[in-house]
Amino acid sequence: MTDSLRIKTFAKVNLYLEILGRRSNGYHEIESVMQSVTLADEVELEPRVSGLEVTCDAAGVPTDETNLVAKAWEQFRLVTGWPDGLRVRILKKIPVAAGLGGGSANAAGVLAGLARMWGKRVDLAPLADEIGSDVPFFLKGGTQRARGRGTELTVLQPVPDCWVVLACPELCVSTPWAYSRVKLPLTRERDFLTMIESGLSHGDVSAVARGLYNRFESVVFGAYPALCSLKAEIFGRGALGVILSGSGPTLLSIFDGHESASALAAWLTEQGYRSYLAKPARHGVEIQ
Ligand code: C5P
Repeated sequence: MTDSLRIKTFAKVNLYLEILGRRSNGYHEIESVMQSVTLADEVELEPRVSGLEVTCDAAGVPTDETNLVAKAWEQFRLVTGWPDGLRVRILKKIPVAAGLGGGSANAAGVLAGLARMWGKRVDLAPLADEIGSDVPFFLKGGTQRARGRGTELTVLQPVPDCWVVLACPELCVSTPWAYSRVKLPLTRERDFLTMIESGLSHGDVSAVARGLYNRFESVVFGAYPALCSLKAEIFGRGALGVILSGSGPTLLSIFDGHESASALAAWLTEQGYRSYLAKPARHGVEIQ
């Protein structure tokens, strides 16, 4: 058995997010295109005699059983009978509760790491499914279309090389709140998805940027109009496209050149926003 492991877990953004209907169990039927980006947390795993110990260098991250990495450990133990304890150390770079799936990525990293330590084949997808709707995406990451609750995944062509700027305002948007407020569409916004898929298959980043769409924008911008103004400002600074990621509050923007992307990131920092310059990533987790 491996002594300890270090795993990079990458953030995700939603290039497209449509809500198709409400399920009887409270969840929603969605269609989304999810994309990994190079902004990543580090997760260190080390076996211990018994029990789980979670530590994190960032404030606001629970280290008890509510952390999704604890759920990952529980699921893994349940299915494999893993007999030992585990120490998990999370080094946070991905902003917390920002619509970037950082906690789900950490959980997928723990599943992948435990499977490596275990050394036998384990089908991780059903375990990820139990932990949360976003977790299965991170097992593979890259560019994928998600349907159903978000867990029915199809790998798509990778996004062409570009720069992604993430603008993260200090706001807290609750995902269940956003789902509860969203108006279900009479007709889905399929044209944007078609545009993204065509952009992916032709390696055309401008088409991908033109296809950016998120049904949550109307709800979240309605509650936080400053986000809508920030989106317009980012457009004015040369972005090919700007969109809210997940239920927000992060806005992601796509650029084809480094200069305008880094100028925007610097301007955002000057304005007091946390900002990150990233690239599309091909993986959701990477065991180092
Ligand atoms: O699956 P997860 O625990 O990440 O979902 C968190 C919350 O987001 C759910 O309790 C639900 O309110 C909402 N959700 C939803 N439909 C989805 C995914 C999440 O309504 N497809």
